[in-house]
Amino acid sequence: MLEVNGIKKVYEGKSRTVEAVRNLTFTLQKGEFACLVGPSGSGKTTLLKIMSGLLDPTAGEVLLDGKRVDGPPPGMAIVFQEYGRSLFPWMSVRENVELPLKQKKVPAARRKELVDESVAAVGLADVHSAYPWQLSGGMQQRVAIARAIAYEPQVLLMDEPFAAVDAQTRADLEDLVRDLWHRFQVTTLFVTHDIDESVYLGQRVIVLSSSPTVIRDDVAIDLPEERDQLHTRSSPRFAELRARVFEQIHRPVEGQAHGVATHAPDVIAPSGATAVSATSDGGH
Ligand SMILES: Nc1ncnc2c1ncn2[C@@H]1O[C@H](COP(=O)(O)OP(=O)(O)OP(=O)(O)O)[C@@H](O)[C@H]1O
Ligand SMILES: [Mg+2]
Repeated sequence: MLEVNGIKKVYEGKSRTVEAVRNLTFTLQKGEFACLVGPSGSGKTTLLKIMSGLLDPTAGEVLLDGKRVDGPPPGMAIVFQEYGRSLFPWMSVRENVELPLKQKKVPAARRKELVDESVAAVGLADVHSAYPWQLSGGMQQRVAIARAIAYEPQVLLMDEPFAAVDAQTRADLEDLVRDLWHRFQVTTLFVTHDIDESVYLGQRVIVLSSSPTVIRDDVAIDLPEERDQLHTRSSPRFAELRARVFEQIHRPVEGQAHGVATHAPDVIAPSGATAVSATSDGGH
């Protein structure tokens, strides 16, 4: 359904040229839930901007249902990291969720249904008439998720959406996203730099190297479909999978001096990763 073919992005600046992404190729099947994990600066946001038609690649192309993406495709929704900047403060929760539906020219009666359903699905029915600034950070991020779901996208892209919320809220939002994916079966690409989160959430983890960015690994997550924060995260299989992802992120780049481009200090290391031996920096 979604094909990323040989994407390369070089930012040409006056003083410096940055090769943000060297060569990325992968495919998402309809209804699939994949996570993309990579260190800070590895070009994850760059890739999402290219996939959503907000930025032109230097080389390669993105195809949605066989059609080349060259501007924001109507069937795609994005949830950004900075919820504070993605909601309009002068609009209520309802109005924020409804806005893209108006732009999509959905009839009023259907808009009401979609807003009611999605606001309830994220547990905000009680505060549907509140303004974003009256809500906590986690609630604001729920509004952003409700807005994306109400839009009924074919593809949902999420760029580190939970980076700014506390651990408990984050765990709740992770389970919410899994629950919504089960209910709506939307094709989802979730970007994170948290290895544990990437393993917990989806069916597959695409592992990026540090810059110059290439795909290191594509790991099938064969954990049981029924997941919960306590049991899934403490299972032996979970530990094996996160160790594998950790190892791939920290594996030295071929042809480069040991330890040079291999540091990934901004990737949250799994707490049980001390058994990993192939890292450049002794495991942390
Ligand atoms: N508009 C831009 N102009 C020039 N360089 C840019 C621009 N946007 C990003 N870059 C550079 O491209 C590289 C990748 O940036 P990007 O934001 O895509 O990384 P990221 O993986 O999303 O990082 P993070 O995890 O910190 O969000 C970085 O070196 C960054 O400095
Ligand atoms: Mg980013």
